[in-house]
Amino acid sequence: MPKNSLKITDTTLRDAQQSLLATRMRTEDIIEIAKTMENIPLYSMEVWGGATFDSTTRFLAEDPWERLKSIKEILPNTPLMMLLRGKSLVGYKAYDDEVINAFIKESAKTGIDIFRVFDALNDEENLQQAAKAVKSENKHLQMTICYSSTENTGLDGPIYNMGYFENKAKIFQEMGADSLCIKDMAGIITPYDIFKLISSLKNILTIPIQFHTHSTSGLGPLSLIKAIEANVDIVDTCLSPLSLRTSQPPIEPLLITLKNSERDPELNLDDFINASAKLKSILPKYADLISNSNESILDSTVLKHQIPGGMYSNLISQLKEADALDKLDEVLNEIPNTRKDMGYPPLVTPISQMVGSQAVSNVIFGRYKIISEQIQNYILGKYGKPPMPINPEVIDMVANDNEQNEDSEGLAHAQNSIAEISQNIQDVLTYALFPNTGMKFLRMKYGIDNIPDNMKLYKSIPTQNIEHQKKKENKSNTQNLSPNSKTYNIYIDNELFEVTVDPTFKKDDLATNDRVIETTPINTELSNTDENNVIKSPMPGIITNYLVNEGDTINRGDKIAVIEAMKMENSIPAHKEGIIKSLPFQPGDLISRGDILAIIEDHA
Ligand code: CO
Repeated sequence: MPKNSLKITDTTLRDAQQSLLATRMRTEDIIEIAKTMENIPLYSMEVWGGATFDSTTRFLAEDPWERLKSIKEILPNTPLMMLLRGKSLVGYKAYDDEVINAFIKESAKTGIDIFRVFDALNDEENLQQAAKAVKSENKHLQMTICYSSTENTGLDGPIYNMGYFENKAKIFQEMGADSLCIKDMAGIITPYDIFKLISSLKNILTIPIQFHTHSTSGLGPLSLIKAIEANVDIVDTCLSPLSLRTSQPPIEPLLITLKNSERDPELNLDDFINASAKLKSILPKYADLISNSNESILDSTVLKHQIPGGMYSNLISQLKEADALDKLDEVLNEIPNTRKDMGYPPLVTPISQMVGSQAVSNVIFGRYKIISEQIQNYILGKYGKPPMPINPEVIDMVANDNEQNEDSEGLAHAQNSIAEISQNIQDVLTYALFPNTGMKFLRMKYGIDNIPDNMKLYKSIPTQNIEHQKKKENKSNTQNLSPNSKTYNIYIDNELFEVTVDPTFKKDDLATNDRVIETTPINTELSNTDENNVIKSPMPGIITNYLVNEGDTINRGDKIAVIEAMKMENSIPAHKEGIIKSLPFQPGDLISRGDILAIIEDHA
């Protein structure tokens, strides 16, 4: 009888499908898989949180709350876990305490038993509110340390060393954590480092320790074994069909490895083979997301740049939208510089997106010429304390900016904003977290707007694949590539693009090929307007709001509109002074790069 049995958390329904399928798995399929796992005595299943909330409302027209409720009904005896981004909950900005409390309360009520709470800066102050809220719901509080390395120095760096992790672990235990998670989101910790780290933490802590890693670089499965040797209490794995690559290591080989050992999890291999068979039968629906994808091989470059899988596909997507894929290498070089300017934060959501997007802006528009609202708030300390001081030159650029950044709006505001649609607390929270896409979703949910075809269930995958094939053929026939070019298969909103990056290309050559920009005709008056008197959008996205009204007098540099692009909000400044004559868009409108955001009249 093993006395030190290893406990297993299965991540298939959240992190694995987030890592490999861009969080696009439908609730109906999740339910089918969950049904095959109801009798497996797992320590827990991670089924919610992370990108689930954003993805279901933004891309799938599915209610995330309904999903959680359904999973709970099928798995009443399995502890369900969610990933919570501290103050940012399941979003990308810091929400106020009232929203944090209400969200955690409702999540607990709907089915979450274990809250895995992390802060991208490992800042304990940031975690306090969420920790308190979880405790007051009498749920399991798992506090998380995000693993990072200063400059690929492992545990020997000046910031992220043994002392740093031991100190954080002690603080988290004192804050009331019921367990501690080491979260290696990029899959970069080495087997011997995790052995050292877990061994040391086991001596210091009385609470159980869980290890979460990814297979991205190939280190994941190796580190898992050394963590188990160091007596880690719980590990994260997933079903083999969605394992490896940027996802978790698989459960099946681990069970065989540990069979009859002191750490034998005592789970039945056949149960997992059965569940994996079900998963396998469902995956062809998502074939266009998984096969040929960039994530289908091990990516050892992550050992250098530390960029987690999700952030990488975001980068490509953002560069593509900006017609600047030829700048990919520049951006990959800029990321460590931007991270250094920001005080070496761990690259994990939302900071990874913020740093990545800022690096893209820095390359395309010039360093810190456009600073996203999120980065401004970060610099102003609203995301907490970075591990090292922020570059003072960058701080000055934000301090010189008089614009007062708005805090996240509270619960009462959300209640008022959707009062005519719904008064249900779950809907109110959906809106409070994502005012733009949340509102769009609620309008669809209540039948006010139709669900667009591309958000409906997959119907004709084969046709889509043929179209993708055609796209590839057309492209390769029309380009003469230099030997330095590299080809990537990438997915943007469920669509496959084969992208060839040729550093010798001029931007114009690249732009004409397969870029789809629908230039929205605004009105005829525009064609008569002097080019110099229009403010154009430098990026595609959603217009969040205007910061000026028609008739306002503005100065050069005044911010005109906020555009949400790649989950970041960017204020667009005026290039000259004048009077606002017209503002052609409404908040919530989709805009393309080059669309006219405002027309200015010169002073009389
Ligand atoms: Co993860």
